[in-house]
Amino acid sequence: MISAKYYAGETILETARRRGLMINTNCVQGFCGSCQVSLLKGAVEMRKNKALTQKQLDSGAILACQSVPQTSDCLVEIDSC
Ligand code: FES
Repeated sequence: MISAKYYAGETILETARRRGLMINTNCVQGFCGSCQVSLLKGAVEMRKNKALTQKQLDSGAILACQSVPQTSDCLVEIDSC
């Protein structure tokens, strides 16, 4: 597990990149789904989601490029590493 300090307003993608972690991306606007990761703990708010289905959301999928943490701890699994 790798932890990263979070700065208010950052997305999961921005935090990961600042920490040197790679997450696949394409549009970075919530449309393509390339940045899909799994939220294992905590809560996020997605600014936009035009890629994930309700079934994917229900299983914990989030868009890293659009997700802003809403809890003090978030644990995310990056499947694409
Ligand atoms: S990079 Fe396309 S939805 Fe995040």
